[in-house]
Amino acid sequence: MLADKDRIFTNLYGYQDWRLKAAQARGDWDATKRLMEVGQDAIIEEVKASGLRGRGGAGFPTGMKWSFMPKESKDGRPSFLVINADESEPGSCKDREIIRHDPHKLIEGALIAGYAMRARAAYIYIRGEYIREAETLFSAVAEAYAAGLLGKNAAGSGYDFDVFVHRGAGAYICGEETAMIESLEGKKGQPRLKPPFPAGAGLYGCPTTVNNVESIAVVPTILRRGASWFSSFGRENNKGTKLFQISGHVEKPCVVEEAMSIPFRELIEKHCGGIRGGWDNLLAVIPGGSSVPLVPGEQIMDCPMDFDGLREVGSGLGTAAVIVMDKSTDIVRAISRISYFYKHESCGQCTPCREGTGWMWRVMERLRTGDADIGEIDMLQQVTKQVEGHTICALGDAAAWPIQGLIRHFRPELERRIAENAREAAE
Ligand code: NAI
Ligand code: SF4
Repeated sequence: MLADKDRIFTNLYGYQDWRLKAAQARGDWDATKRLMEVGQDAIIEEVKASGLRGRGGAGFPTGMKWSFMPKESKDGRPSFLVINADESEPGSCKDREIIRHDPHKLIEGALIAGYAMRARAAYIYIRGEYIREAETLFSAVAEAYAAGLLGKNAAGSGYDFDVFVHRGAGAYICGEETAMIESLEGKKGQPRLKPPFPAGAGLYGCPTTVNNVESIAVVPTILRRGASWFSSFGRENNKGTKLFQISGHVEKPCVVEEAMSIPFRELIEKHCGGIRGGWDNLLAVIPGGSSVPLVPGEQIMDCPMDFDGLREVGSGLGTAAVIVMDKSTDIVRAISRISYFYKHESCGQCTPCREGTGWMWRVMERLRTGDADIGEIDMLQQVTKQVEGHTICALGDAAAWPIQGLIRHFRPELERRIAENAREAAE
């Protein structure tokens, strides 16, 4: 179990004040200028050496992403950092806790990351439903400006850097990085085709990097304590500490910072008081937010909670939003509800997603009640394959994978419902 002294988010539960003075007493903004003095390339190298991978779901290496940004401005075009605080993945609620209780870690991280990437400013795009969190963020940014930590000569570094907070309006798809950029530009939030990636052409056509809140908020501590300290947690390719958000049928749902690669059973025993009704009552787990396939309880028990460990059991770490379901769960209904979510949130731009998400949801609803033909299970599987990988953004995949996981692991339950429905109809 991660020792308290190794936790980055020391005010995760809000036991202390989030404001600047209290944050400084906890070590935030301590000699930020010195951290920056090592130079832009050295900061990027340190982040690379730490092994930090993006905490928003995709796990792309953060330092490598930063190194895609141009070192020299072309035609006087500025570069930008966009911080993705549009946390909308069902099950995810970690960025909310950072913003509520440790906002200065994020703002200090924005300055350091922005400086390293030679960005002129950071835009923090916060989901519309996070009303109080946005208020906290606005106040924390104002405090930082008033203290000379942002703006001209930010933190005495000689570097000018601004931070703008932008509120979203409730669309899940605006969490996709290029839809977020469109939305920031004042347009309808719809994903762009990639490439070009944002580092080539992002906000207002300028070089841009989009990073998740947690990815940015851990940076000051990585630089203070060193890349080797951060990479001492977890295992090869899966380094560092990580915020896990555990919800559902555990005794005590929580958000907790733990070492990457902690086994599932240990995570739940140590922080959640075990499974409701005991371990024998565990049915399945969605380990990374609703976009990743479920894993049957017996297959995840000893699994290391990291990118590679969860891939080996056919799922993914995603945002580390761990949704635990016990045997009281109607698993078909649960996945059908997730299907509805993706149908509702599809931006409608590409046909396989626009048509496929609605189609998949309607079949899922019929499978839920058993009012389907047995051959429709395979047909549904084929449709998920037609959607997966054939759309502009990852929402199509996210809609397909939970259904594939259900069919892979719970086909007998789908067949049972169809048979039972047919029997009742015949009686
Ligand atoms: P992605 O794998 O396409 O990209 C990840 C990041 O790496 C992006 O910033 C992208 O620009 C960059 N990248 C990838 N390949 C690159 C290349 N060749 N050159 C330059 N940059 C490159 O994944 P995406 O679509 O950004 O994210 C999908 C994930 O988001 C899902 O796995 C899901 O778990 C997560 N997600 C998180 C949500 C949340 O609330 N935090 C909401 C919805 C999804
Ligand atoms: Fe829009 Fe869906 Fe296409 Fe993504 S996959 S661009 S959400 S229609």
